[in-house]
Amino acid sequence: MSDASPHTIAVVGAGPAGLYAARKLAEAGHTVLLLNRDLKPGGLAEYGIYYTKHKMKEGLRKQFRKILAMPNVHYYGGVQVGDVYPIKLQELYDLGCSAVLFCIGAQGTKMLGLPGEENAVGVFHAKDLVYHFNKLPPFASQHFDVGQRVGIIGMGNVMVDVAHWLTCDKHVEEVVVIARRGPAERAYTDKEMREICETLDQDDLKAEIERIAPYLKEVGQDPDALYEAMLEPLAKAKSKGSPSKLVFRFLCSSKQILTDENGRVSGLEVEYNKLVAKGERLSPKGTGETTTLPIDTLVYAIGDQVDDQVGLPFEWGKYIVAPTPHPTDPERARYEVYDPEKEEILKGVFVGGWARVASDGLVGKARADGETAADEVMAYLESEASNSRSWDDIKQQLEAHLSQNDIPLFTKEQVAKLEAAEQARAAEEDREFFKFDTNEEMLETL
Ligand SMILES: Cc1cc2nc3c(=O)[nH]c(=O)nc-3n(C[C@H](O)[C@H](O)[C@H](O)COP(=O)(O)OP(=O)(O)OC[C@H]3O[C@@H](n4cnc5c(N)ncnc54)[C@H](O)[C@@H]3O)c2cc1C
Ligand SMILES: NC(=O)c1ccc[n+]([C@@H]2O[C@H](COP(=O)([O-])OP(=O)(O)OC[C@H]3O[C@@H](n4cnc5c(N)ncnc54)[C@H](OP(=O)(O)O)[C@@H]3O)[C@@H](O)[C@H]2O)c1
Repeated sequence: MSDASPHTIAVVGAGPAGLYAARKLAEAGHTVLLLNRDLKPGGLAEYGIYYTKHKMKEGLRKQFRKILAMPNVHYYGGVQVGDVYPIKLQELYDLGCSAVLFCIGAQGTKMLGLPGEENAVGVFHAKDLVYHFNKLPPFASQHFDVGQRVGIIGMGNVMVDVAHWLTCDKHVEEVVVIARRGPAERAYTDKEMREICETLDQDDLKAEIERIAPYLKEVGQDPDALYEAMLEPLAKAKSKGSPSKLVFRFLCSSKQILTDENGRVSGLEVEYNKLVAKGERLSPKGTGETTTLPIDTLVYAIGDQVDDQVGLPFEWGKYIVAPTPHPTDPERARYEVYDPEKEEILKGVFVGGWARVASDGLVGKARADGETAADEVMAYLESEASNSRSWDDIKQQLEAHLSQNDIPLFTKEQVAKLEAAEQARAAEEDREFFKFDTNEEMLETL
C-alpha cells in the first residue's frame, strides 16, 4: 500500500457496497472517510439478512471488521447525509474530499398507490418489518400491528423472509401471497422457500393452480409440472412446527384496500389477470373479473427505490447517472451522478450498489458493484488535477460539524466496543446473539 495518495474519498453508506468500495480505495493508498446512517456498519447484511442466518452474518461481520481496521479507513456511524438530514450535501462537498461515492442502498419504499393505502390500519412496507425483526433502530422498538390473515404483495425472497417471520415467529393464522403473474414467474428461490414451505397448504395450491390452468396453458405452461415444481423445496424443508398456513393467489393485480368501521384492513379487491407475451417477458393483463381476498393486514414486498430526500438528482425511483455510453467500455454501466437541469455530470460524485440499481441481487453483487464504483472513482482521480484538503483538516471540520449538531462520535473503536458488549450479553443470556433495540441503549452501554 502506498501512503503517498493526496486524496481523501468520502464513501457514504457502510453496507456491503460501501465497505468493499472503501477497502478497494484504501488498498490503493487513498484515505477513506466512511459515513453511515446506522451506528453499526453492515447495512442490509446486518439488518436485512434474516436473523437466524447467524453464521452467514458473522462471516460477513468478520470481513467488515477487517475493512474498518484498515488504518486509512475512518468510520463515523450515526451520520445521515442528505438535504433533509444532519449533513447536507453541500456541507459534505465543502469538507473538500476529492470525490464522494454514495452507497446508501435503496431506502425509499415502493407502494402501489391503491385507494385506501395511505390511511388503512394494517398496511406495511416489507422493509419496515424486515428492519423491525432484524432490530434496526428505530424500527426495532416500534410496534407493528400485524393481524391474523396477512396478504403479501410480491413473490420474491423478501416475501419469503417476511412470511418466515409471520409464520415462525408471529404464528399468524394465514399468509396469502398475492402475485400479479403465475407460478412460473415466482422470483423467490427454492433454497429460501425451504424455510417456510412446511406451512404451504398443498390442497389450496392445487386448487389455485387448477383455477388458473386455462391461462397457463394459453402461454404454453404445464400446470401439473408447475404444481410439482412448487413442491420441490419440501424435499429439504426445514421443519419449524409452525401452526400457520401459507397460500398463493396468482394472476391477481391489487385494485383497492377495503377497511372495516375501525379503519383496519378488511380485504383486498383484486382483478384476475391472464398472461400475455411482451417480447421475452410474460406480462399480466387484466380480465375485468374481480374478487375480494379476506385479509386484515397487507404488506408490500415489491422491491424498493432509492431515498428521494437525499438531494441527489432523482427520477423514477433512481438517482440519475450519466446518460451516455461509458467512454472506454460501452458495455460498462455509468456510476457518475448526472444533473439533468444543467445537462452535465456532477464532478466527482458517484453511486454504487443498491443506490445505483435498487433491490438488485445478493451481497456478492453489491460487493462487485461497490468495487467497480471504486474503480470508476479512481479513474476519475487519475484524470483530475484536484487534491483533497489534508485528512486532519477534513476530520477537524467534520467533527466540529457533528458536535454542533449534537451527533455523538461513533467511530470504529466504538463499533468494536459495542460488538463486545452485545456478545457479552448474548453469552450471559445463553443466546446465539443479542442486539440492543435503540441507539440510546447502544450509546449508554459505551
Ligand atoms: C430482506 C432482505 C434480505 C436479504 N437477505 C440476503 C441474504 O440472505 N443473502 C444475501 O447475499 N443477500 C441478501 N439480501 C441482499 C443484500 O442485503 C444486498 O444485496 C446488499 O445489502 C446491498 O448492499 P448496499 O451496500 O448497496 O446497500 P445496504 O445494504 O442497504 O447498505 C446501505 C448503507 O447505507 C447507509 N445509509 C442509508 N442512507 C444513508 C444516508 N442518507 N446517509 C448515510 N448513510 C446512509 C445505511 O445505514 C446502510 O448501512 C437481502 C436483502 C433484503 C432486503
Ligand atoms: N435470502 C436471500 O437470499 C434474500 C432475501 C431477501 C432478498 N434477497 C434479494 O434481494 C433482492 C430484492 O428482493 P425482492 O424480493 O425485494 O425483489 P424481487 O426478487 O425483484 O421480487 C419482487 C416481487 O414483487 C413483484 N412486483 C414488483 N413490482 C410489482 C407491482 N408493481 N405490482 C405487483 N407486484 C410487483 C415482482 O413480480 P413481477 O415478477 O411480476 O415483477 C416480484 O414477485 C433480490 O435480488 C433477492 O434475491 C435475497
